[in-house]
Amino acid sequence: MSGTLAINGGEAVVPKGMIKSWPVITDEDKQAVMDVFDSGHIHGCSAPQAVALQDEWTEFCGCKYALVTNSGTSALHMAVAGAGIEPGDEVITSAHTYWSTAAAILHHNAIPVFADIDPDTFTIDPVDIEKRITPLTKGILAVHILGMPADMDPILEVARKHNLKVISDACQSHGAEYKGKKVGNLCDGTGFSLNRSKNLTSAEGGLYTTNDDAAYQYCSRMREFGEVIVPGQERQYNASVLGWMYRSVEFCNAFARSQLKRLPYNNGQRIEMSEYLTEKLKDIPGMSGPYTPPDRKPVYWTYTVKYDPAELGLDVDAKTFRLRAQKVFAAEGMTVGPWQHVPVPAQSVFQQKMGYGHGCPWTCCYKGNVEYKVDDYPKTWEFLATHVRVGAVHPPNGMDLMERYVEGFRKVMGQASEWAYREDLA
Ligand SMILES: Cc1ncc(COP(=O)(O)O)c(C=O)c1O
Repeated sequence: MSGTLAINGGEAVVPKGMIKSWPVITDEDKQAVMDVFDSGHIHGCSAPQAVALQDEWTEFCGCKYALVTNSGTSALHMAVAGAGIEPGDEVITSAHTYWSTAAAILHHNAIPVFADIDPDTFTIDPVDIEKRITPLTKGILAVHILGMPADMDPILEVARKHNLKVISDACQSHGAEYKGKKVGNLCDGTGFSLNRSKNLTSAEGGLYTTNDDAAYQYCSRMREFGEVIVPGQERQYNASVLGWMYRSVEFCNAFARSQLKRLPYNNGQRIEMSEYLTEKLKDIPGMSGPYTPPDRKPVYWTYTVKYDPAELGLDVDAKTFRLRAQKVFAAEGMTVGPWQHVPVPAQSVFQQKMGYGHGCPWTCCYKGNVEYKVDDYPKTWEFLATHVRVGAVHPPNGMDLMERYVEGFRKVMGQASEWAYREDLA
C-alpha cells in the first residue's frame, strides 16, 4: 500500500483500541474461580482442582503423569531433578530461549552448556548439541521455542548414543506436535508455564509431565517440602528428601481448567492467523514468515518474521533496519519488535558466572570448566539480529486485524527506502 507513513503524519494502519490483549477471560472462567471460594479447598496438592487439572493435562498430552506447580520454572526444575541430574552435571540447552530454562538447571546445582540453533526453525541444533558433549554431560534440555517443537528424533538419537537424559521446556508450546505427538509426551520430562502470556494460562503456574514412575514419585515429594503426604492420613511432618515449595493454588488451577477447554480453539485461531500472514508475506519483499517443517505443528506463542533489507536493494545492516522498522511500525499502531536481545550465555549471569555464594554451582560442585564465549552462537546472533515478533496474533483478535497487519507490512516495506536510512529513527 502506498499512503503517507504515520511517522510522517499519515493515518495509522491499525487504529487505537483495535488490538485486544491476551488472555481472553470469559464469564465461565470467572465462575470457575469464584466457585473455588465456596468449595472449601483453596490450596493443596490433593485439592480437587489440582488433581482434575493434572488428569486433564495427562489426557491432553497423552502422557502418564502430570504435576501442577506454581511456575514454569519450578516445573522445569522438577524435570531436571526427575531426570536424575546431579550437582556438577552438565546439561546442554538452547542459546535461544528465555533464561529461566538455564536457571532451572542452575537451581539443581547443575551446569548449563549452550548449543546454537537451527536457523530455519530457531530450535536447538542436534548437530551442535553433539559437539558440546563432554564426559560431564548428563542431559539435554531441548526447548520448544515460540510455539515450535524442537527436532526431537535426532536429539533423542544423540542422547541414546551418549547415554543422556532428554527433558524439554514447553513453556511456550502447549499443544504443539512433533510427528503427531504432543510436546509433553516426547522425552523423559517436560515443563510448561501457565503464566499470563502463555497459550494456556492460570495467571501464574506450571505443569510438569513425565511417563517415568520414579521421576513422578520423586517430583511429587520434591514439590511439597520433600514429604509424602497421603490424603486422608495424618501428616507425618517427615521430609524424606530435600523438597521445595512448588504448590499451586486452587484459584489458578480452576482458571487453567476453564481455559484448557478452549486451548484447542485458541491454538487453532493462532495457527489460522499465523498461516495467513505467512502466505501473504510471500508477496511482500523485505519480510518473510517462519518456516514450518512438515513433521511439526507449531502453536505460535508468538508470530515471528524475518527481515531481509538486501531483498529491497537496501544497503543497511539487519539490526539497524530492525530498530528503525520497529519505530515505523509502532507509529502505524503495530508491535513489531524483538524478544530476546542476546543469546542466553551472553547475559551477565553467565559472563560473570554469578551464582549464589561465591559463584556456586560453577565454583562449588563442578569439576569442569565451561566457557560462555559470546561468539560461540553465531546462528542465534544472526537470528536475533534479523527476526522480530509481531504482537497480538492471538484471540480475541481475528482476521480483520490480520488484514490490517498485511496492509501495514505492505505500506512499511513498500516505503523502506524512505525510512531505512533515517538517522532520527536510530
Ligand atoms: C521458554 C520459557 N522457559 C521458561 C519460562 C518460565 O516460566 P515461568 O515464568 O512460569 O516460571 C518461560 C516463561 O516465562 C519461558 O518462556
